[in-house]
Amino acid sequence: MIQLAKLTKNFDVGKNALTAVDTVDLTIEQGEIFGIIGYSGAGKSTLIRLLNGLEKPTSGSVSINGQEITRIKGSELRRARQKISMIFQHFNLLWSRTVQENIEFPLEIAGVPKRERAKRAAELIELVGLSGREQAYPAQLSGGQKQRVGIARALANEPEVLLCDEATSALDPQTTDAILDLLVDINKRLGLTIVLITHEMHVIRKICHRVAVMEGGRVVELGDVLDVFQAPKEGITKRFVAQITENADSGETIKNLLELYPTGRLVKLVFVGERTEQPILTQLIRTHPVEVNIVQGDIAHTQRGAYGTLILQLKGSEQEIAAALAFLNEQEVQAEVLTDV
Ligand SMILES: Nc1ncnc2c1ncn2[C@@H]1O[C@H](COP(=O)(O)OP(=O)(O)OP(=O)(O)O)[C@@H](O)[C@H]1O
Ligand SMILES: [Mg+2]
Repeated sequence: MIQLAKLTKNFDVGKNALTAVDTVDLTIEQGEIFGIIGYSGAGKSTLIRLLNGLEKPTSGSVSINGQEITRIKGSELRRARQKISMIFQHFNLLWSRTVQENIEFPLEIAGVPKRERAKRAAELIELVGLSGREQAYPAQLSGGQKQRVGIARALANEPEVLLCDEATSALDPQTTDAILDLLVDINKRLGLTIVLITHEMHVIRKICHRVAVMEGGRVVELGDVLDVFQAPKEGITKRFVAQITENADSGETIKNLLELYPTGRLVKLVFVGERTEQPILTQLIRTHPVEVNIVQGDIAHTQRGAYGTLILQLKGSEQEIAAALAFLNEQEVQAEVLTDV
């Protein structure tokens, strides 16, 4: 468990003090994937550097499993820092070393014998899906492969916490998703706590359990990913959520849809949590003699379940449509008939 208490970091900028991290209180549970999102300059990197002791706080404390890392020094701090690993946006690999040598590097520093290093590196190469590329140099790898090396190297010393600073920001969307899948896999397999900072809500949505929103050095909103997506409170959080729920159902789009689909009934379904759209639609079609067309869909899957909306056109007799609506409402999805207002 990671506990931040009234954590503050000021930098001297000329004559003024700049508060990069401002009285942050936060508890991150063991084994959780915790996301921190904020715009550039919000203080995310400073916060993460305070977490691994690279930066000393101006005031407040950081404790990891009860040990206050802000108070320890020397060999004790080095040991504590081995339990916390990090991956970076630009990978920070050693360019003159092969994949295998990069992964062995932290083990070399820790004084692990050669044979053991090679064995551990082989396991890690397998884990991150780089088998066959052991002897390649970083320059010969794609961005996604480089980050896989970064992840393997970060795992070499069997850390308890993995910090990710914009680890997918230099990657294309498809490669980003593959790396995020790998992080989820590692979190599940090794029970590793992951703290991830990003400015992309997609990353939060896809893999995080909880999220903190940072603005001006402060945590302005905190909660379960699903709750935050469903009911963002702060303006900044709403803007981040809007990054992935663009088709807001404004009156105009509804009006347009009603013009485009003048027959039958348009029904908007709102899904939250465990219920996903597919089984419900399949059942609806199997058990009701209505015609179902998907008009618009905006479903996002999070680690905590799905959420989003789906607009269906239902065609049939009034009675059949009413029965279909009653069925949908029994399924714990909100179903609402769209009308022109
Ligand atoms: N070593 C430093 N000296 C002076 N100011 C600093 C230092 N490090 C960070 N800052 C300032 O602290 C604030 C927060 O910076 P930080 O790098 O933590 O933001 P960030 O959220 O990671 O931004 P980005 O998304 O651009 O990486 C910024 O105003 C930055 O200029
Ligand atoms: Mg940063």
